[in-house]
Amino acid sequence: MRVLVSVASRHGGTLDMGTVVADVLREAGHEVDEVSPDDVERVDEYEAVVLGSAVYVGRMALGMRDLVDRQAGQLRGRPVWLFWSGPVGDVPGAGQTPDDVTAVASAVSARDVRMFAGRLERDELNISERALVALVHAEQGDFRDLDEVREWAAGIAGELAQSH
Ligand SMILES: Cc1cc2nc3c(=O)[nH]c(=O)nc-3n(C[C@H](O)[C@H](O)[C@H](O)COP(=O)(O)O)c2cc1C
Repeated sequence: MRVLVSVASRHGGTLDMGTVVADVLREAGHEVDEVSPDDVERVDEYEAVVLGSAVYVGRMALGMRDLVDRQAGQLRGRPVWLFWSGPVGDVPGAGQTPDDVTAVASAVSARDVRMFAGRLERDELNISERALVALVHAEQGDFRDLDEVREWAAGIAGELAQSH
C-alpha cells in the first residue's frame, strides 16, 4: 500500500518518531512517503495516512492544523492514525489529551490517537520558547521511548495487512 507519514516538529524529536513509524511500515512491505505537512499537496494517492505532531502549549503545530484544514475531506476518506508528542518529565496533567488533539482527531476520523513522551533540550529553544516551557512546567531531557513507537507502528502494519 502507499502510505503517507507526515509529522510536524519544531526541534526534531517528533520527526524521529515519524521515521520510526515509516521504517516499520516499509519493513512490512508498504511504500511510504515521509512528507512535511506544509509540503503535502494531496492525500488521495495514499491508501493510509499517519499524522504526528508535537504539542506546544496545548496545541498541535500550526503546519499540522493547516494540513488538516486543507485536506480534512480527503483524510476522512481513508484510514488515518494520529500521534502526538508532548509530555516531558513529571508534568501535572501530562497524558491528558489536549482539546486541540481531540479536534484534529475528530476532523480526520482518526482510527487511533496515541500520545508519546517527548524531548526537550533547553539549548535548542529560543527565548520565548524558554518562557513558555517554564509556564507549562516542562522538564529538560529526552523522555522518548522509540520502542513504544515501533510497537504502535507494528500495530498499524497489522491492521493494514488485515484490510487487504
Ligand atoms: C514552547 C514549548 C511548549 C510546550 N508545551 C507543551 C504542552 O503544552 N504540553 C506538552 O505535553 N508538551 C509541551 N511541550 C513539550 C514538547 O511537546 C516536547 O518537547 C516535544 O517532544 C517537542 O517535539 P519536537 O522536538 O518535535 O519539536 C512544549 C515544548 C515547548 C518547547
